Amino acid sequence: MKKNLLSCILFLVPSLCLQAQVTVTVEPASDQTISADIYGHFSEHLGRCIYDGIWVGPDSDIPNKDGYRLDVLEALRELHIPVLRWPGGCFADDYHWQDGIGPQENRTLISNNHWGGTMEDNSFGTHEFLDYCELLGTKPYVSGNVGSGTPEELAKWVEYMTSNSQSTVVNQRRANGRDEAWDVRYLGIGNEAWGCGGNMTADYYSDLFRRYSTYTRDYNGHLYRVACGGIVGDFAWTETVMRKVGTMMDGYSLHYYTIPNNWDHKGSATEFDENEYYVTLAKALNIEDFIARTIEIMEKYDTTRHIDLIIDEWGTWYDVEPGTNPGHLYQQATMRDALVAALSFDIFHRYSYCITMANIAQTVNVLQSMILTDGPRMVLTPTYHVFNLFKVHQNATWLPTSIEDNTYTSVADGRVPTIAATASAKEGKTHVALINTDLKKSQMVNLQGVKGKVVSAQVLTAKNVHTTNTFDKPHEVEPKAFTDYKASKQSTLSVKMPPCSIVTLEIF
Ligand code: AHR
Repeated sequence: MKKNLLSCILFLVPSLCLQAQVTVTVEPASDQTISADIYGHFSEHLGRCIYDGIWVGPDSDIPNKDGYRLDVLEALRELHIPVLRWPGGCFADDYHWQDGIGPQENRTLISNNHWGGTMEDNSFGTHEFLDYCELLGTKPYVSGNVGSGTPEELAKWVEYMTSNSQSTVVNQRRANGRDEAWDVRYLGIGNEAWGCGGNMTADYYSDLFRRYSTYTRDYNGHLYRVACGGIVGDFAWTETVMRKVGTMMDGYSLHYYTIPNNWDHKGSATEFDENEYYVTLAKALNIEDFIARTIEIMEKYDTTRHIDLIIDEWGTWYDVEPGTNPGHLYQQATMRDALVAALSFDIFHRYSYCITMANIAQTVNVLQSMILTDGPRMVLTPTYHVFNLFKVHQNATWLPTSIEDNTYTSVADGRVPTIAATASAKEGKTHVALINTDLKKSQMVNLQGVKGKVVSAQVLTAKNVHTTNTFDKPHEVEPKAFTDYKASKQSTLSVKMPPCSIVTLEIF
């Protein structure tokens, strides 16, 4: 406190001295790179994510390119999405890829049994997904069906997508309009094998992983196989899969959802009190324990760190918006979601020596989405803006930060730091993101260790934590230029953060 007082007297205007100060120090370097794929996405055949959200079909009145809606395509391009996971989720283990290839009129009509029994006409299939990834400039991550499919089916799918041979299945792809193999690297061997992916035991799944991996041949020389992790807290699952599968896998995946209350009554996306706000943030932060304990087990079996940790589903999960289909998981979003995203990225950055990919659930109209659509209208969520502001961290060198004189809000599920910070360096520039979780109070942050001038600064906040972007008012929560900072001495900035806000600074 003495130090704060002194810096107030020496460097700050008197009005700023009345506020508590937190000091954030950014270290100049590290040997850790933040993999771009940590900014990955997930799009499942669930509710209106694919249909309405991404794909409207070429005959739609909604402006589209070959069936992909243009407004969403452009908005997603802006995010520089590095990797997109598809077709599920739980849908993946019900999905038979042959249903979704060839002329549209011959595609199979099925019931999407896991997600509300909605009819699925398979008009968006392998070609539509992989061509979309090319349009977006993103890497595909395909989840294979292990729960209800055979090793032969998955083997043939991989061959169809990635081989350039003259085999019948590859020539079938050519006949369907695609000569060259697509560059598919990431392959999920099942999804949530402990639950919707087949209700398997870890032992049984491990054996199946070995079997399905054997027959999914590496035609392109870089096929990367991802194994399913256990349900949150099931570390015995991790022990078993690591012991039995070991380095036959390249990635080991965890799923972690932030649910304010419980699975039966998750809580509203927009109506929550102060306690529920902090509980949500505390629960989001608890992913760190899950990650740290998983890495500990992984390192026991994989001493050379061959296997990456992948968080291929994460985000907030609330009760669906009133009046919408309970099986479609459509939810609104507020600054609370923006803070969950920013705090999660801080954690993923810190563990980027092991975490190489993360995929938020889900891209459009489902769970913590980037975009909501209503017929021809589209709205960007607060989470979209976090992904856009944070994309500068993709492939950057992570810079460790330390925080002094921080305060905490304690709730039943943990404690929430008032200030969090994450930083990285790329091409001579330093990017710092500061997060003020305090709902009511602005905070003075003394930012140390950053050399150069602020060349750009943005703030994401809202009038009120319950404010949402709606189709009638789409610009309520969006980044604005930020000027409430001051260079107080060499390599030190005083930043005044509004309550419940995220400030990003580019320093050069
Ligand atoms: O993202 C929604 C669902 O959550 C996914 O289908 C499943 O993998 C998870 O339980």
